[in-house]
Amino acid sequence: MTLDIRPLTRGFCAEVAGYDFSTPPEKVPVDEIRAAMNTYGALVFRGSPPTDEQHVAFSKLFGAIEKGTLIKVAGVEKRRLKHLELVDVGNLDFEGNIYPRGHRRMLFRKGDRLWHVDMSFMDNRATYSMLVGHEVPPEGGDTEFADARAAYDALPAGMKTLVDGLTAEHSVWHSRVLAGFPEPTAQELASRPPARHALAHAREGSERRSLYIASHASHIVGWPIDLGRDLIASLLKFATQPRFVYRHQWRQGDLVMWDNLATLHRGTDFDDHIHRRDVRRATCREREIVDSDASYA
Ligand code: OGA
Ligand code: MN
Repeated sequence: MTLDIRPLTRGFCAEVAGYDFSTPPEKVPVDEIRAAMNTYGALVFRGSPPTDEQHVAFSKLFGAIEKGTLIKVAGVEKRRLKHLELVDVGNLDFEGNIYPRGHRRMLFRKGDRLWHVDMSFMDNRATYSMLVGHEVPPEGGDTEFADARAAYDALPAGMKTLVDGLTAEHSVWHSRVLAGFPEPTAQELASRPPARHALAHAREGSERRSLYIASHASHIVGWPIDLGRDLIASLLKFATQPRFVYRHQWRQGDLVMWDNLATLHRGTDFDDHIHRRDVRRATCREREIVDSDASYA
């Protein structure tokens, strides 16, 4: 199969037109998709929307897949989605109603509107994320992507040398509190300890170096907290300048696949207590998933 790939900006993000998600798994052009991901960082599959089964089956072709457990934290009592592989990223409760304003779950998800990569707070990081828009609001609720490889390339030489030698600590609670979520409970804190990762890296299968930063990054290992926070903030600002960003306006049925090891992303605002937004995410990881790195939501 040859994919119909149409770049969306200069060299960053591309659309795959007319992709058919009923393609049986053994016929999916996995190598071609991986190569396109390496080139563009993110792909928008536009055509016939995948069912949840097709979404999960497609995602499983690209690595160990995240599987949720029963959630006891962050305001979710019951799952809306049948497939444990799908993270419920929208604003609907388990009965399909819009969460009321100020609901703990919605406060938790507000963290997605800060620039981040998925699951940098885990040892076993997310590689590809595959997000499907089942219902999208008439206005707003776009998702922005920033090119962390172009950002690394554009750093002054001295800054490259500096970041090449540093490690950051990431915690999901850091970004949640930044976004206005109340201080986590002891149970929530224990459910998601922090993880440490190099601030710059070349992902497996690629020669290009990339920044690896996110709003989950709370400090630089070995540095005074304030100094580390300032560096993280200035790198985030640098990497998310408009020249590195593609803004995705959703159409119902889009599947957007991004590489968390080469891009950053964030959700954007919409009237989330008025309009429905049903988006579901499958997430691949670097390695097989064991109990201790099961998902949080
Ligand atoms: C995600 C995410 C942003 C959005 O699913 O990981 O950050 O726009 N989503 O829903
Ligand atoms: Mn995300």
